[in-house]
Amino acid sequence: MSEKITIQLVINDETQRLTIDPRVTLLDALREHLQLTGTKKGCDQGQCGACTVHLNGQRVLSCLMLAVQAQGGEVTTIEGLADKQGNLHPVQACFMANDAFQCGYCTPGQIMSAVSCIKEGHAGSEAEIREYMSGNICRCGAYPHIVEAVKQAATEMSGDAHHE
Ligand code: FES
Ligand code: FES
Repeated sequence: MSEKITIQLVINDETQRLTIDPRVTLLDALREHLQLTGTKKGCDQGQCGACTVHLNGQRVLSCLMLAVQAQGGEVTTIEGLADKQGNLHPVQACFMANDAFQCGYCTPGQIMSAVSCIKEGHAGSEAEIREYMSGNICRCGAYPHIVEAVKQAATEMSGDAHHE
């Protein structure tokens, strides 16, 4: 057995110290050690995107990253996206308004990815949204609604500096 290691991360604006086996992925650290179960595990090998979170402002697949690699970093999960008053992030609100999910399992990853997709400037057209959201699989086939939601959120967020 490997020896445990202590790491410190800022998760959704709160500092967390974790003493874990170094083999624990960031995904499992969130789900099993911090009870942040919004981030999902659809494959655990980087092929579905259900585990997408933000690390230092960029979308990453948390199943392909060890928690220790995120040491000292800032992580945002789906639970940290609404503001402190509980107002939904525009991407969350647009997913609701456009029925951009069915079972909801891919949704946290889709939403985290969509926030980045917009921030990266990759929401310029439907084709671009499809391409830059293609790392997130949805077996419920919500893709047309997801594209609509991302398009609408991108419009709402343009010129809006309040959101990350
Ligand atoms: S669980 Fe990470 S990509 Fe599927
Ligand atoms: S909403 Fe079910 S997998 Fe996407």
